[in-house]
Amino acid sequence: MMNALINIDGFKHMSFGKSIEIHLKKNHEKWMSTLPLKQSEAISYVFQDMVSKGGRPFFLSLKSKSDFDFFSQRFFFWLRTLFMLLNLFSLLAYLSSAPLLILISGLPRRPVITGILKEPSRRNFPVKWAHSTSTMAAANEENIGSLKEQIAKVFEISLKVTIPEEPEVVPLIAACAKKEFGDYQCNNAMSLWAKIKGKGTEFKGPQPVGQAIMRNLPASDMIESCSIAGPGFVNVKLSKQWIAKSIQKMLKDGIDTWAPKLPVKRAIVDFSSPNIAKEMHVGHLRSTIIGDTLARMLEYSKVDVLRRNHVGDWGTQFGMLIEFLFEKFPSGEVNDQAIGELEVFYKASKQRFDSDPEFKERAQKAVVSLQGGEEKFRKAWAQICEISRKGYEKVYQRLGVHLEEKGESFYNPYIPGTLDLLREKGLIEESEGAQVIFIEGKKIPLIVVKRDGGFNYASTDLAALWYRLNEEKAEWIIYVTDVGQREHFEMFFTAAKRAGWLPNDENKYPKTSHVGFGLVLGDDGKRFRTRSTEVVKLVDLLDEAKTRCKAALVERGKAAEWTAEELEHTAEAVGYGAVKYADLKNNRLTNYTFNFDQMLNDKGNTAVYLLYAHARICSIIRKSGKDIEELKKAGQLILEKDEERKLGLHLLQFAEVVEEACTNLLPNVLCEYLYDLSEKFTSFYSECQVVGSAEETSRLLLCEATAVVMRKCFHLLGITPVYKI
Ligand code: ARG
Repeated sequence: MMNALINIDGFKHMSFGKSIEIHLKKNHEKWMSTLPLKQSEAISYVFQDMVSKGGRPFFLSLKSKSDFDFFSQRFFFWLRTLFMLLNLFSLLAYLSSAPLLILISGLPRRPVITGILKEPSRRNFPVKWAHSTSTMAAANEENIGSLKEQIAKVFEISLKVTIPEEPEVVPLIAACAKKEFGDYQCNNAMSLWAKIKGKGTEFKGPQPVGQAIMRNLPASDMIESCSIAGPGFVNVKLSKQWIAKSIQKMLKDGIDTWAPKLPVKRAIVDFSSPNIAKEMHVGHLRSTIIGDTLARMLEYSKVDVLRRNHVGDWGTQFGMLIEFLFEKFPSGEVNDQAIGELEVFYKASKQRFDSDPEFKERAQKAVVSLQGGEEKFRKAWAQICEISRKGYEKVYQRLGVHLEEKGESFYNPYIPGTLDLLREKGLIEESEGAQVIFIEGKKIPLIVVKRDGGFNYASTDLAALWYRLNEEKAEWIIYVTDVGQREHFEMFFTAAKRAGWLPNDENKYPKTSHVGFGLVLGDDGKRFRTRSTEVVKLVDLLDEAKTRCKAALVERGKAAEWTAEELEHTAEAVGYGAVKYADLKNNRLTNYTFNFDQMLNDKGNTAVYLLYAHARICSIIRKSGKDIEELKKAGQLILEKDEERKLGLHLLQFAEVVEEACTNLLPNVLCEYLYDLSEKFTSFYSECQVVGSAEETSRLLLCEATAVVMRKCFHLLGITPVYKI
């Protein structure tokens, strides 16, 4: 018989929780108990005969709990008395040379501690501290990570014990393809087997490895059951009590506790970025919508995001614009009303530029004066930029998008220094009078200084990258433009790698990503344009979406039911939301057809349908007449029926979906999740009566959790939720 004396003295220094949970697992048996923990109390427990027979490892995990609901006080009293007796016995046994004594004292401040004890071969066997087996956030831990991550933590412990010779192995956790097998699966057995095969291992194949991984899983209230499939997949079925508990905890602590953890602190999202005086077309609308969503998802994941509007506010076109401005407003007094539409102004000046050589010459000189910093020219340039800016602001305001402008001109002073750095690395060469960087695999080099000595889009982007990495200390820089610019980005990213600014390994940081997107098409399958073949004005599009929504609401009698303000607000939320969602729900790389009738349909995968679903949930809660805040505090969520469990599990998967959408920069992943959520809610609602049922409290909590997650999805997609419709 072997004894392990565990002195949990260190717990007295911890200021959390009222009780501790003790989990013991040896071979197949699990033993779990919860014990009260009083501050300043040292508890010593003896576990007898736990380390014996055949050298199987066993787990001991201690975790603090803020409540203990399984056992009564009386039970604890007797349990503690029993332990004290055993303790005494063990001490005596130890004094008469018991084989093992483990003292755990001065435990770290982390509230959850797991000890993995292996069969001791000598006295004072060192206790290895592994990751926590906690499957619920400890009281003082804000962010619990995604569901997958929580499962991975449990498997990490088992993997370490099962194959100690491969301590670095990362748990491979995926959702089960076939739901009848379970919710998640661990896929490590096969690759582990490949690593240990023929190296004197006791295992006879991947399946026994899988079985051992399953056997060695620490006790966890998260897992209901496990099974082995195929060559060693370990399937996990999550406990519905645990799912329910996790959702209730989110309802209490807020959905921010479900934010995924990302490996970056600061990111730059370079999006929207229209060109001054030129039209802001639907391509810029896509960039604005996609970029804003990516920024929102990163912000939710606690990344510090710099939202950059890299406007095209520099270049030769300004010479012509400035000269035209001087002609139109000789006094220098410019007002934007007089200029009217900048695009029209741009076209008129271009016409003048093309038709009048004398004007052209003046315009070219104006560029030189502007670049030389001459006061009069700088002022005219600033006026033109300001007018453009006001136009953009109107669109951004309607879309609820916030951006910080650092246009191309901002990086101008940094270009010469940046190019010097690249020259020092031997990257820049002369070619046909221009200075270029040759990129392997590309026929045409990246031009960084034009033949006339001027800088261009590429040199500006290189300087901006240098600035973002070195001055702004961004770890991830994300550029959102149409796929047509892919080559440009690929080339200057490669140049930056060759200069040693970025690591060659795509998985390492700092990192740059180009988020390309396809075209917006009209019903004719061609680039989206209005009748007059002019590009579509963004503001007009948004106006039309709103007007159509308002008309639909009026038709449904809402004008009589609601205040004018409510009508206006709802029409805006639904109209703008519909435009955004129609864009975001597609994989961004594909072209999509802009169609008002489709996007404003209240059936199918549209924002209208989803906003409606949300409003319906809110009305169920309202109609119950219950105070949901009170229910959150006192009610209990129980996931009894299959549809309830399915909905509950889907809610819990929110964090990993956001994580995936962020990591792969794909907003459509979140849209799919949201649509699925509304479908799962519909199945639940058609199967389970909510108001007036015996399970009303629990089901109202499930409704509320669904509404909370839906609202977060809307928020991340930049859509304003509505509460009644
Ligand atoms: N102004 C450019 C355009 O309209 C987009 C700029 C994208 N950002 C960048 N850093 N290059 O195409």
